[in-house]
Amino acid sequence: MLIVLLGPPGAGKGTQAERLVKQLHLAYIATGDILRAAVKSGTALGQKAKEYMERGQLVPDEIVVEIVRERLADADCAAGAILDGFPRTVAQADALDKVLRDMGKKVDRVIYIEVEEEELLSRLTGRRVCRDCAATYHIKFNPPRVRNVCDQCGGELYQREDDSLTTVQERLQVYREQTAPLIDYYRKQGVLEVIDGNREMEEVYADILAAIEKGSD
Ligand code: AP5
Ligand code: MG
Ligand code: ZN
Repeated sequence: MLIVLLGPPGAGKGTQAERLVKQLHLAYIATGDILRAAVKSGTALGQKAKEYMERGQLVPDEIVVEIVRERLADADCAAGAILDGFPRTVAQADALDKVLRDMGKKVDRVIYIEVEEEELLSRLTGRRVCRDCAATYHIKFNPPRVRNVCDQCGGELYQREDDSLTTVQERLQVYREQTAPLIDYYRKQGVLEVIDGNREMEEVYADILAAIEKGSD
C-alpha cells in the first residue's frame, strides 16, 4: 500500500503520519526530514539543499526524486510506505509513477489534507520539533509534557528555521504555484481523498484512516 500525504505547509502531514506509521506498520518517507538530517550532518546533499530550504523554495526535482527512488528500494518499504511532502511538483509525480511502475507498484491513495491559510500560519509559527527524533509539537495545540523536551525520546525541541513568518509566507506561495496542481493530477487518477484538516488532530486522523480503509476494499 503506497499512500501519499498531500497538503500545504502546516496542514498536519507529519503529525498524522506519525500516527499512521505506528498503526499501519508502513515505512515512512518524509523528504523534508531526510533533507533536514542531511543539512544537519553537512553532507554534500545537505550543503546543496540548505540554500533552497532556508528561503522556503523547493529543492530541485532531480535531487528529491533520487532520494525517494533509493529509499523505496529499502527492505522496509516492501510492504508499503507513507510519503510525506513528496511529490510536490507535477514533474516529481510523473517521476514517482515511473519509479513505482518499474517496481510493479502504484500510488494507491492520496490523502489531501485541506486547511485554511490563517490556521496554517498559527500552526507553523507555534511548531516545535525534536532535534533527535523529529517528533512534532505545538506550543498551544500539542504541547510536550515538559517544556522544550520531547515526550518520546527526551530530546531537545527547537523551532525550524523556515518557520519564521516571512519564510512561511514564501512556502505557502510555492505550495500554491507548484504543489496545488497535484490535487487535480491525482483526482484525475481516481486516487484522491479530500480530508477537512481544520479540526482536532484526532478527528482528522479518524477520517484519514477511514479513507485509507475504504481504498483497500
Ligand atoms: P517539509 O518538511 O515537507 O515542510 P512542509 O511541506 O512545508 O510541511 P510542514 O512539515 O511544514 O507541515 P506538516 O503538514 O508536516 O505539518 P505538521 O504536522 O508539522 O519541507 C521543508 C522544505 O524541504 C521545503 O520547503 C523544501 O525546501 C524541502 N523539500 C521537502 N520535500 C521536498 C520535495 N518533495 N521537493 C522539493 N523540496 C522539498 O503540523 C504543523 C503544526 O501544526 C505542528 O506544530 C502541529 O503540532 C500542529 N498541528 C497539526 N495538526 C493540527 C491540528 N489538527 N490542530 C491543531 N494543530 C495541529
Ligand atoms: Mg512535515
Ligand atoms: Zn524526540
